Amino acid sequence: MTLTVLGIESSCDDTGAALVRAGEGAPQVLAPEILANVVAGQTELHAAFGGVVPEIAARAHAEKLDLVVEEALARAGLTLGDLDAIAVTAGPGLIGGVLSGVMMAKGLSAATGLPLIGVNHLAGHALTPRLTDGLDFPYLMLLVSGGHCQFLRVEGPEAFARLGGTIDDAPGEAFDKCAKLLGLPQPGGPAVEAEAKQGDPKRFAFPRPLLDRPGCDLSFSGLKTALMRARDALVADQGGLKRQDRADLCAGFQAAIADTLAEKSRRALAASPGVTAFAVAGGVAANATLRGRLTEVAGDLPFVAPPLALCTDNAAMIAWAGIERLRLGHKDDLTLSARPRWPLDPSAVPLIGSGKRGAKA
Ligand code: KG4
Ligand code: ZN
Repeated sequence: MTLTVLGIESSCDDTGAALVRAGEGAPQVLAPEILANVVAGQTELHAAFGGVVPEIAARAHAEKLDLVVEEALARAGLTLGDLDAIAVTAGPGLIGGVLSGVMMAKGLSAATGLPLIGVNHLAGHALTPRLTDGLDFPYLMLLVSGGHCQFLRVEGPEAFARLGGTIDDAPGEAFDKCAKLLGLPQPGGPAVEAEAKQGDPKRFAFPRPLLDRPGCDLSFSGLKTALMRARDALVADQGGLKRQDRADLCAGFQAAIADTLAEKSRRALAASPGVTAFAVAGGVAANATLRGRLTEVAGDLPFVAPPLALCTDNAAMIAWAGIERLRLGHKDDLTLSARPRWPLDPSAVPLIGSGKRGAKA
């Protein structure tokens, strides 16, 4: 018996629809298959504003959702009649976008009679290593993106223990701000990484925030201020930035983020005996320096980094998380609400701050 689920994602600036098919058993028994995974990004729409504009995002989602769903069905060669359920991101995220997706999913569910499954976007990221690598529970997940940064012990499809997270900016946001301060293009992460290759990570002594405190919480906003000071000092001194200065600033900045995440990962692993693997997700997981450091920290434990298209926002992870919920017999109905905030671990103390890329949960 297999389950074929349509996933819909619209919580930030990517409109996604995907079809995933899987057996009823554990992921290893019958490997899940991604039949289609369509993502329509909105980067150009927000480029002039230096960040995601929620109203523009919501309107673009509303315009694109039916098109991406049609495209996913066409690519998979399926019709709505071939589906077992419709899974949709019901939060956390920019509420206008989440509402657009939830309304679309409700419409499809009402029209077809298919079960509706509300998925937590963070659960989608956190369960991706089971879709791609068939990981067994429990495993440790580091979610590092433009909007999120947290350590999760993933114990089951709906059981997550948060071990720590950022108290201000997410690392992707920090990379983006670093690029902005140095006149590099957006998204900042890849631009900073490319510059850093030519740079000396030791020339500037950037802080390693919160390493002096116990636990796994992180902070990245002070790093941005330190970078700005170093830049301003160079400009005051020399009247501008030389090419090597920019490369050295990027290398130092990237090293500070990688060092901090590596040390906190070491602590999170120490606090998670019995995990089967250490996994990462989120756009920042694309960073090769960071990946190298995290692989070292994992030691003998398998280190799992899903392919980039499944690490960043996508609807295949939402369809998969929907399948995981459906297998538990859990589903929602037309009373499903869109939630701007939705912590995965309700028992964890709320983290302070809310990034411009979306509410941190
Ligand atoms: O998961 P993601 O695609 O989406 C959201 O968070 O919405 O992550 C995007 C973030 C951006 O901030 C981008 O600068 C960062 O991931 N990023 C990187 C790299 N590639 C993307 N950061 C560091 N190094 C990279 N190679
Ligand atoms: Zn995300």
